[in-house]
Amino acid sequence: NLLKAAAVGGAYASGVALAPGITRALAGATADPLLLEAYELAAMIDGKAPSKGVMSYRTSTSPADVAPPVIRARRGEPFSARFENRLQEPTTVHWHGLRIANAMDGVPFLTQPYVYPGDGFDYTFTPPDAGTFWYHPHCNTLTQIGRGLAGMLIVEDLGDPVFDGEIALNLRDWRLGGNSQFIEQFKARDAAKAGTFGTVRTANWQVEPSYDAPAGGLVRLRLLASDVTRIFNLKLTGAEAVIVAIDGQPAPSIMPLDMAVVSPGQRLDLVLRMPDDEGATVTIEDVRPSTPKTVARLRAVGASLKRSLGDVPPLAANPQPEPDLSAATEVPLILSATAEQAAKDSICGSLGYSFWAINKVPYPGDSADPMAPLAEMKLGKTYVFNLENVTPHAHPIHLHGMNFKVISSSTRAVLPLVSDTYLVLPDEKVQFAVVADNPGDWVLHCHIIEHQKTGMTSFVRVV
Ligand code: C2O
Ligand code: CU
Repeated sequence: NLLKAAAVGGAYASGVALAPGITRALAGATADPLLLEAYELAAMIDGKAPSKGVMSYRTSTSPADVAPPVIRARRGEPFSARFENRLQEPTTVHWHGLRIANAMDGVPFLTQPYVYPGDGFDYTFTPPDAGTFWYHPHCNTLTQIGRGLAGMLIVEDLGDPVFDGEIALNLRDWRLGGNSQFIEQFKARDAAKAGTFGTVRTANWQVEPSYDAPAGGLVRLRLLASDVTRIFNLKLTGAEAVIVAIDGQPAPSIMPLDMAVVSPGQRLDLVLRMPDDEGATVTIEDVRPSTPKTVARLRAVGASLKRSLGDVPPLAANPQPEPDLSAATEVPLILSATAEQAAKDSICGSLGYSFWAINKVPYPGDSADPMAPLAEMKLGKTYVFNLENVTPHAHPIHLHGMNFKVISSSTRAVLPLVSDTYLVLPDEKVQFAVVADNPGDWVLHCHIIEHQKTGMTSFVRVV
């Protein structure tokens, strides 16, 4: 389980995919389309026996039969991927957090037809923001993400600071039984509460992996919570760290890390300083709700580089539209439970129930049911979404295609964050300012996938 963290360098091309866990980019982009395939495999997840029916992505340059590769693109430069579906069911690819054209957003019915087995789809876009993002399907999402389809997408900028090492961790659980095989992903009883939790915890599809990093060096840790259910409460022991970006967007100021809550769909970029002593270990743990669980470890190697956290420069901000609050239109957005009701079948998989709703309408997000958008937004205008969570559960709410700026919360101090996913706490009222600068129909949903698929989904229309 010991991998070398700092060793990978070499030729870099836009769209080049590397094995997860180890990332290091160098200059010199080319715009060759990436061949990206979704496929099924048997993979060792729990360290005991191969699990059948795992789903992953691969590219022509990524090693086969492992976790989805980290894909790299360059800010402001065209990226293209030829996607091919080698699964036995329809799927799509959604590029979570990227503000790109609606037709590339990967949502069946709203933005594109689902991709049948054996078929393909060409995704082409120019990422406007640098940072840590991810890609995953938007069809039969509970099964497909639950079985493995979720990878990190790093958008680089030529001006990005270079650290002594960079490690990407894709954090997720698996619902495996004692025989290492998948068990039911969905329990109706749990879907109506916080969601159904996995049984095996992994980082980059490994249980407690360990990575080498330069002693006394500064390491950029890119964390992705791709789990369908779990809200991570992450703590680092053995090193000090600062938060440099949240959900792909540079943090307003470099913030010391105490404990970080990273909910499904969210990303967190830290810079940590490795200990000076060769062999010393840094542990990343999930500390709640019960006993702390180790997620991954880093081991110091080599003579100390003697860097200081004070040397960490802030990341350059991405260009974001400035909301005009004086002329904003308000949009109410009530997150609620709904009386249990049967849900129709869909080609993109139905869980069979509705438990949740946005503005009282339950919608699974990937079916053709006609419904009205939450709001018709005028291109270029500012809107304030008044979210109100009237449920006793937390919901990580994600908006496609545009970012929002959190402007107020009834329960906590808000950082002036620009984001695509925000964890709305039980009974919290929160306001998002959104500049409607991207035309199309954009879904907004809870990223606890059982909540999404049992009704906590809707969409806004920008015209
Ligand atoms: Cu990360 Cu609608 O998705
Ligand atoms: Cu939810």
